[in-house]
Amino acid sequence: MHQIPKEFDPEFIKAKSSSDMQMYRAERTSREPMKSVLENNPEIYIVPPQRSSTWGNWEFRPGSYYDTTTGSKHPYWADVDLPQPTKDIARLRADILQWGYGLVEDALSQEQVARVRDRVLEQAEGERLAGIAQKTPSGQNINCCVNKGRCFELLIEQHPSVMQAGALIEQLLDEALGPDWICGSLIAAMSLKGGVPQALHQDQGNGFEARNPLLVNVLTAVTDMDETNGGTLVIPGSHTTVSDAFRHGQPVGKLPPAINIEAKAGTALVYDGRLLHGTGINHTDEPRIAMLNGMHKPWMKQQENWMLSVRPEVLQRASPKLLHRMGYQASTGSQTNEGHGFGARGMAGEPAGALAAIRLAADEGRYVRVGELGPDSSTEDLHADYTLREVVRTAREGAEEKPKQAFDQRS
Ligand SMILES: [Fe+2]
Repeated sequence: MHQIPKEFDPEFIKAKSSSDMQMYRAERTSREPMKSVLENNPEIYIVPPQRSSTWGNWEFRPGSYYDTTTGSKHPYWADVDLPQPTKDIARLRADILQWGYGLVEDALSQEQVARVRDRVLEQAEGERLAGIAQKTPSGQNINCCVNKGRCFELLIEQHPSVMQAGALIEQLLDEALGPDWICGSLIAAMSLKGGVPQALHQDQGNGFEARNPLLVNVLTAVTDMDETNGGTLVIPGSHTTVSDAFRHGQPVGKLPPAINIEAKAGTALVYDGRLLHGTGINHTDEPRIAMLNGMHKPWMKQQENWMLSVRPEVLQRASPKLLHRMGYQASTGSQTNEGHGFGARGMAGEPAGALAAIRLAADEGRYVRVGELGPDSSTEDLHADYTLREVVRTAREGAEEKPKQAFDQRS
C-alpha cells in the first residue's frame, strides 16, 4: 500500500507547529482594538443579553456608556460642534471625516417616513402572529426586508420616490467606498421598552487599520429618536482614534463619552464602519424604529445571503441597480458562477457578470450545471443544455448590443 509521507501526518504537523512557529499568530490572536478599548474604558462593557422591563432599576455602573444623553445636553460635548442634521453636502463630508458620522436632514419626507413606518409595523405584527418574529436583545428585527414590501426594494436603491435624499447619499457613499460598492442587508430594527442596550461595536468587523472605511452604514430613523427612546449610541470621532491606534500597534486609550443620537424621523445617520456605536435603551412605550442599510466594498461577504433569499417575484422585477447592490453582478474577483463573470467589472447592468438568470433558472428547476466530462463522455452529455451556454450567449449578445453603455450604478 502507498505510504503517505510522514510530513503530511497530522501528528507530525502538530509537533512542528507550536504557537511560536506559526505565521501571523500575533496578529491573528490579538483581540485588539476592542481589548484595550474595554480595558482603558471600564464604563464600556458587554451588557448581558437579559431582558428587563426595569432598566431604570438595573444596577448601573456609574457612568455606564448607555446611561448618557444627547450631545447638546452632555457636559463633555455641549460646547463642541458635533454633527447636526443638514442637507449641505460639504458639511456632511466634513462631519463624516471628522466625527465618523453625518446626519442627512429630511432624507425621507414625512410622507415617505409614514409609508416605511406603516409597512414595518404591519410586518412586525404579522411576523409575531406567524410565530417567526426575530427577537433581539433590544427588541425585534425584520430581516431581509427586500422581500417584504416594494418600499424596501426602493429604499435599497435609494430611489427618490422612497428616499428623497437618495442622490446625495449615493454621492457620499461613492466618495467613501468607491463607485462599485454593494449593499450588505436591509433590516428594520425595533428597539422596545425592556430591551437591553447593545454593546458598543464597529460594524466593520475587519480591517480596523484601514485609513478609510470598508463599510458605511445608512441608518434611517423612521421614528424620532433621542436619549429617551434608544437613540443610537455613538462615540464621536472614535472611527479614527481606534483605527489609528490599531494601525500603529498601540493600545486604544481613554475615549470620550458616548452620546445618544438625536434625530427627527426621516433623518439618515450615515456612519463610518469604524465608528464605535450601539443601540440605546428605549425607556418609552413606543417602538423606536431604524432602517439599517449597510454598504460596503464589493469583495466583502454580504450580511444577507441574497443569492438564496430573494423571492423570485422580487428578483424578476429588480432593476439593474438593485441587482447590483444585492450582489447579482459578478466580477473577476468575486461571485463568479461556473466561471461566468471573469473579465467583468462587477458594475450594474453589465451582461458579462449578470447572475440573476442563473438563480431564476435554479428556481424553475432548469439549471443544468456542467459536471464531469471527458473523452469518453456520451454525446448526450457533451451536447447537454448547460445553462452556462445560454448565459454566456446572452452575455455576448448583450455586450454587442450595449457597447459602452454606462456601467454606472446610477443608470
Ligand atoms: Fe452596528
